[in-house]
Amino acid sequence: MTSAMERERGTPAELILAVETSCDDTCAAVLDGPRILANLISSQHAAHAAFGGVVPEVAARHHLELAAPLVTAALAEAGVGLEEIEAVAVTAGPGLIGALLVGVSTAKAIAAARRLPLIPVDHLQGHVAANFLEPEPLEPPFLCLVASGGHTLLAGVRDHAGYELLGQTLDDAAGEAFDKSARLLGLGFPGGPALQKEAEGGDPEAFEMPVAMARDPGLDFSFSGLKTALVYRCRELGPEGVEERRADLAASFQAAVVGQLVSKLKRALKRGDWEAVALGGGVAANGPLRTAVAALCEERGVRLKLVPLQLCTDNAAMIGSAARHAPRIAYPDYLGYDAFATGEAPLAAA
Ligand code: KG4
Ligand code: ZN
Repeated sequence: MTSAMERERGTPAELILAVETSCDDTCAAVLDGPRILANLISSQHAAHAAFGGVVPEVAARHHLELAAPLVTAALAEAGVGLEEIEAVAVTAGPGLIGALLVGVSTAKAIAAARRLPLIPVDHLQGHVAANFLEPEPLEPPFLCLVASGGHTLLAGVRDHAGYELLGQTLDDAAGEAFDKSARLLGLGFPGGPALQKEAEGGDPEAFEMPVAMARDPGLDFSFSGLKTALVYRCRELGPEGVEERRADLAASFQAAVVGQLVSKLKRALKRGDWEAVALGGGVAANGPLRTAVAALCEERGVRLKLVPLQLCTDNAAMIGSAARHAPRIAYPDYLGYDAFATGEAPLAAA
């Protein structure tokens, strides 16, 4: 906990309350400039596990129940009163529209009650901005690989406020491929961690997987072919064969995803004058990916920033971090502001 006096001694900062509800995690955080005072996440994974994936309606209902209590708990943990908060940040999109609407409505209500500014944040910019948080913030320029359940992209980050899109997935996101493949292999939800665990006992070279986009000179990704290849391997093996070779299948699939992510990162490093690399998004929690990227960075003499695992997956601290450098909307102009499911934020909208 940080006292008001300690806060005054730090860099001139602002107390921001941040809310994130773009998918199935309800998140609230309190930031003092780049310092995290509280960062709470209430995961709904158990509610969705029975369905093998996130059910948008179920997610929205849970956010509705959890958002306000989580904000209260975050303020309490930060030792900050609502009357001390100076701005309210919220993920405005992209994401599940029903889930986003709960977060945006919650943030608008809190901000409006105190006539505070509202700062709508792009979720992907949030993943990039996780790198700006203390301790050991990474300053631009750097190359950032963001791989999550909804997105996979390579971002050229030259300032705090945005990024250049260097490449992105043309079909499934890397995390989506992990989740779908894990389901195919009869593993738990979310699939990424479950598949990584299963792969620990497997041989990554046991099954040949297609090298996606091998002849494409660009920096885009594709993961749907890999998923299809896994479907065929499973069909060939039959249920008993899959049972027997599950670890090998998981390891081969994981190696192919990691291989593609790392080869595009390598290509991007060759093309730019980047001195640092950062990983973001839920898939950045993947152990073999972290190891492979670390090896690549060492080979190329580039600094690697790995944010703590709880800042890789969805969280509100990263939204507060992005908010520090994003346009804000004064009261009452944001009362008509809406969340957006896809595309870009209507920044000046009201
Ligand atoms: O960023 P995130 O928490 O939520 C989205 O914005 O999508 O990412 C969640 C994704 C899921 O697809 C999950 O399976 C994947 O990140 N993930 C992992 C691991 N941990 C989470 N994928 C691979 N290995 C992991 N250890
Ligand atoms: Zn995310």
